[in-house]
Amino acid sequence: MEMMRNALQLWSLHLSLPFFLLLHHVSSALVASDSVYDTFLNCLQKHTNHSEVNSNILYAQTNAKYSTLLGNYIRNARFKTPSTRKPLLIVTPSHESHVEAVVVCSQIIGLQIRIRSGGHDYEGVSYVSYDMPFILLDMFNLKTIAVDIDDGSVWVQAGATLGELYYSIWEKSKVHGFPAGVCSTVGVGGHISGGGYGTMMRKYGLSVDNVLDANIVDVNGKVLDRKSMGEDLFWAIRGGGGASFGVVLSYKLKLVPVPETVTVFGIETTLDQNSTMAIDIVYRWQEVAPSTDDGLFMRMILEPVSSNVKKGEKTIRASIYALYLGKAERLVSLLEKEFPELGLNNKDCREMGWIDSVLWWNKFPIENSPDALLNRNLNSANLLKRKSDYVQNPISKDGLEWIFKKMVESGKIGLALNPYGGKMSQISASETPFPHRAGNLYKIQYSVNWHREAEEANSAAQIRRLYGYMTPFVSKNTRSAFLNYRDLDIGINTHGNDSYTQGMVYGLKYFHDNFHRLVKVKTAVDPDNFFRNQQSIPTLPSKRHSHIG
Ligand SMILES: Cc1cc2nc3c(=O)[nH]c(=O)nc-3n(C[C@H](O)[C@H](O)[C@H](O)COP(=O)(O)OP(=O)(O)OC[C@H]3O[C@@H](n4cnc5c(N)ncnc54)[C@H](O)[C@@H]3O)c2cc1C
Ligand SMILES: *[C@@H]1O[C@H](CO)[C@@H](O)[C@H](O)[C@H]1NC(C)=O
Ligand SMILES: *[C@@H]1O[C@H](CO)[C@@H](O)[C@H](O)[C@H]1NC(C)=O
Ligand SMILES: *[C@@H]1O[C@H](CO)[C@@H](O)[C@H](O)[C@H]1NC(C)=O
Repeated sequence: MEMMRNALQLWSLHLSLPFFLLLHHVSSALVASDSVYDTFLNCLQKHTNHSEVNSNILYAQTNAKYSTLLGNYIRNARFKTPSTRKPLLIVTPSHESHVEAVVVCSQIIGLQIRIRSGGHDYEGVSYVSYDMPFILLDMFNLKTIAVDIDDGSVWVQAGATLGELYYSIWEKSKVHGFPAGVCSTVGVGGHISGGGYGTMMRKYGLSVDNVLDANIVDVNGKVLDRKSMGEDLFWAIRGGGGASFGVVLSYKLKLVPVPETVTVFGIETTLDQNSTMAIDIVYRWQEVAPSTDDGLFMRMILEPVSSNVKKGEKTIRASIYALYLGKAERLVSLLEKEFPELGLNNKDCREMGWIDSVLWWNKFPIENSPDALLNRNLNSANLLKRKSDYVQNPISKDGLEWIFKKMVESGKIGLALNPYGGKMSQISASETPFPHRAGNLYKIQYSVNWHREAEEANSAAQIRRLYGYMTPFVSKNTRSAFLNYRDLDIGINTHGNDSYTQGMVYGLKYFHDNFHRLVKVKTAVDPDNFFRNQQSIPTLPSKRHSHIG
């Protein structure tokens, strides 16, 4: 009670000043005073049962380890510059009870919070805030994974990576797996709360379709499991993004069966070799990939490449990377029938165990031990931007030809097409907050990387231009987007009193009608909108407390 009163007093203090002035005022006052560190540490010690709360889990900007810690899980170098807004403090819980204390103390002291697990957010939302001052709650130490083969399930803490999850399952069984993302360094906390898809999506759905239970710290610092949080909140944190609702501590996941032998292949062709053939393959892929056997996932990558280096000419390369949950012989005969244009034969295919296919998708040598999946590859980041779209009707051959021309003109934007169908079409659009189910043929990821900061403006302009050109070919009315492919271009929340209207702009794109249920859950569990960020779920306007305005 007392804590809430203190927090409210702090907030009402904020109210007396204009918004920008207030931020400046509070942050400089706090930065100037070393006592925030001590105050926070004292508060943590008071609010946790765990004795090891000490300076090993709390870092001020003056600490020599601060920059390394901050940088370790920055995965987009766009947010690793001197001008990037930095947390006042970094807290790295080593025990779940520390998280409870962080949530309570941040409110008492008046710090906004950013929650980071693997740090792969494409827009750095997990560690950048324009809402100042803020504390970074960095979950990387909470990475326990408990696989129970008899029960067919696993409890995994939010700070574990997907690579660690796959490795831990593989250690216990060669015929179990889990349907989640490709990249081994992605964090469980952001990935699963944001949906989570991977190469077994057509067979088993998204990660969120295989979540059995969860532990979350709510705004009052209480730990809730599925039973105590109730089905509405449990629904919300399976695709609605965890960070709007609380701090996810762990998920209990249902393991899925994988065969002892799976098959992968990668095949490519370029437009300049034979454009009729290349266009036929891409066109036909749109029909086959979303409708073929559920056990087959064929990702299509389209990208501009040099065709004639001397003349500076470019062409489009179309590559298909695939996982088949079965043996090569069956795959070859399946595609001979369904996709003769591809001309797949036995020597294009490689058979291996499921864990080796995980290495293969990560472009790790499969001769190596799966230990490679445990490498967190700290402090490595590219400059990049991503966007997403959904395609519901096959694009005509003329359309494809035009798009390829635009891609060559644009310069360096790549497209990754991920086929849906199978299990994805059998789950209703409201089963989880993730609405992109039946009726979608495939999702497009637009991608661009660059090397020098100075290239940012041009790269960002290119990707936005191509996104513009794609308008006639992709989902209409609501132009859909995938939350895990965070894109601040589609709308942001500036946390003014208009946050509901602002939130609806991106909310409907990510969640369609599920947005309204997410808002209801949000309003019920966090009415004062403590858990917020540039694209969080807003509260209902009528329920908003005056001090948020
Ligand atoms: C190289 C790369 C490959 C990718 N591949 C895939 C893929 O194959 N499939 C796919 O679906 N996506 C993929 N993604 C996207 C990825 O799933 C999302 O970026 C995801 O949100 C990352 O989770 P994280 O924990 O690493 O990120 P973070 O940046 O730590 O978090 C992302 C968001 O979740 C919130 N969050 C993080 N942890 C918690 C928590 N414990 N409780 C509450 N909220 C939390 C953050 O505040 C932030 O809003 C990829 C991204 C990259 C960079
Ligand atoms: C400490 O532990 C007890 C018993 O487990 C629990 O009831 C209490 O809420 C905990 N207190 C804090 C501050 O975590
Ligand atoms: C190009 O591909 C088409 C369709 O596969 C084929 O009919 C044609 O003969 C090919 N042209 C050349 C020059 O190889
Ligand atoms: C809040 O709403 C009022 C009235 O609608 C408006 O004048 C003001 O600019 C808004 N403030 C913010 C921060 O959006």
